[in-house]
Amino acid sequence: MLILGIESSCDDTSAAVLNKDVVLSNVLSSQDEIHSKFGGVVPELASRQHLQAINPIVNSALKKAGVQLSDIELIAATQGPGLIGSLLVGFSYSKALSHVSKIPFVGVDHMAGHILSIHLNEKKPPFPYIALIVSGGTSSIYLAKSHTEFSCLGRTRDDAAGEAFDKVAKLLGLPYPGGPHVSKQAEEGNPRQIKFPRAWLEENSLDFSFSGLKTAVLNYVNTCKAKKIAVHIPDICASFEAAVVEVLVTKTIRAAKQHNIQTIALGGGVSANTSLRTQLKHSCFDNKIDFFSPQIKFCTDNAAMIALAGYYTYLKSGMTGIDKDVYSRSHLG
Ligand code: KG4
Repeated sequence: MLILGIESSCDDTSAAVLNKDVVLSNVLSSQDEIHSKFGGVVPELASRQHLQAINPIVNSALKKAGVQLSDIELIAATQGPGLIGSLLVGFSYSKALSHVSKIPFVGVDHMAGHILSIHLNEKKPPFPYIALIVSGGTSSIYLAKSHTEFSCLGRTRDDAAGEAFDKVAKLLGLPYPGGPHVSKQAEEGNPRQIKFPRAWLEENSLDFSFSGLKTAVLNYVNTCKAKKIAVHIPDICASFEAAVVEVLVTKTIRAAKQHNIQTIALGGGVSANTSLRTQLKHSCFDNKIDFFSPQIKFCTDNAAMIALAGYYTYLKSGMTGIDKDVYSRSHLG
């Protein structure tokens, strides 16, 4: 089955063509340059840019895959969660395309896309598995029971991990999106130099909280400035990254143990972080758990994962009604 996937939940417009789970094309138009001067995504600018980009991106994805629109058998678009204005562009475009071209249409939960992104690899994880999904909008742990059944075991109570990376980058004067810059600085720093807090929350909790950590970094920087002590950015980045990664890894392994699961998968933009990938991999090895991480291009928002999740959603539930709307919060578990 040939599937056209469309993703526009935040600030990336993406379209992909898949033949079931084989990626024929995956095209992305990033808005980083537009939002970087504001230090974060400006929703109104994001939706306007999606409007400009969507048609050329879809045409480019079809062309790169070597197919015509008439060859497509299913259109899958992100329905939520995300920025409402951004979602509306991709979702309404897809519904209209489905209507005029008489191709079935399915709305996809963005989180299902991230959880299944690992299935775009040649080696696929067996079900059930624990998925740690960490991005600019979410930090959640899911139990994936099948291609369409997911339970949320824990989620962030405030900032997402990527959001914390971006905010810390902003307060240190690093460019947006901050994750890759903080991570690059961290390579030169000492992760044990500053003891930033780890928010473990209640005993056995699988929830996260990163806003206190972000405030601790701010307080540290302000104290250094007040005492006229030079701020060593690499040490701050390395110590901050160590605090985030330790909590993410510990709680993901805890989730696997609590639910007696032998496989862990990673997903979302923050899973591009080398320290997170390496430490989770080592921790899985030590605990005799199989570890799967997606290719970097499928970590961040992309339409290939939406096409894949759409395929399985369509097999299970059929078409999404033309009257259905976008949503800002995930419907999963
Ligand atoms: O999944 P994604 O592309 O978009 C959504 O947020 O939905 O994730 C983007 C997030 C940003 O917050 C970015 O700073 C973060 O992922 N990120 C990283 C790294 N690369 C991207 N965070 C830490 N380390 C990285 N190497």
